[in-house]
Amino acid sequence: MSHPTATSPAPWKPTFESHLEKVGGAGAEFTLATVSAKGLPHARTCIFRGFWATLPPNEHNELPKNPSIYGSDCPTFTTDARMVKTYDIFATGKGKGDLAQSRSGSGGGGPVEAVFWVKETMTQWRIRGKCWLVAAEDVEGGEEAQNSGTVTVKAEVGRYMRVKEGSNHAEKEKDWSWKLEVENYFENLSPMMRGTFKNPPPGQPLREGKDDSAGEGLGQKAGHLSDEPLARKNFRVCIITPEQVEAVDLTDPANCIRQVWTLAEEAGGPGGPQPSESLGEWNLVQTWP
Ligand SMILES: Cc1cc2nc3c(=O)[nH]c(=O)nc-3n(C[C@H](O)[C@H](O)[C@H](O)COP(=O)(O)O)c2cc1C
Repeated sequence: MSHPTATSPAPWKPTFESHLEKVGGAGAEFTLATVSAKGLPHARTCIFRGFWATLPPNEHNELPKNPSIYGSDCPTFTTDARMVKTYDIFATGKGKGDLAQSRSGSGGGGPVEAVFWVKETMTQWRIRGKCWLVAAEDVEGGEEAQNSGTVTVKAEVGRYMRVKEGSNHAEKEKDWSWKLEVENYFENLSPMMRGTFKNPPPGQPLREGKDDSAGEGLGQKAGHLSDEPLARKNFRVCIITPEQVEAVDLTDPANCIRQVWTLAEEAGGPGGPQPSESLGEWNLVQTWP
């Protein structure tokens, strides 16, 4: 499979990352747009949780960590499998997942756009690509335990994971666990935030009540993901595999430009508008804002 940004970060990433640092880094708010099965737009606020495979340290986190051997250009966030965005991302993926599949485990692949307005640098970033959802429950285990969604997610996201330079890193790849990474994402949340994955079903009318026997309730805390069956069922790490990135810098009205980077066809991307300047696996076009 083609390998986007096999050896070095995407050309837009260092600037994007430095802008995010100005608005809290992991913790920055952004707007996530998805498309429904009926072709309608849905947008909502989410929180950036770092780039995949480089989860930032966190005071709440007591778990062992994966070896620090990968880098990626993939923004991540977390969500609840019972929310509309999860179904949107499954329904519009290649596999056209149904509602039951979207709630049962890893998969997805539908198109998303993530929009970050960084006022501090007067720059709007729009990250377009596919979104993949990872569940702790099915992402590892024997080949039989893995559904086709899991295999696809690992292959598609794996393309974007580059082994960092350094001795023995290739050897350590077998020690890197997807499940442990998902558990660490959960552990990075505050106990109160972890507890929200035991909320009654998001969007379900109040009059339908809640499942007390399953432990559903508002305002709960939660511990480790491995000790929380209900939260484990609902918790997802969402990974955006970027294919086109736009930045518009509005600092100087007389000098605004819009930069559009598109992943080249040879790297498995859409190629984008031409002519363009080739920057490794990405094609850059500068446009009027
Ligand atoms: C500041 C803020 C941060 C939020 N962060 C997230 C997030 O990281 N993930 C998430 O799924 N929902 C987050 N939400 C809630 C969503 O905006 C939305 O209400 C919820 O996910 C249900 O959306 P959906 O049914 O369209 O999926 C956040 C809301 C606010 C106001």
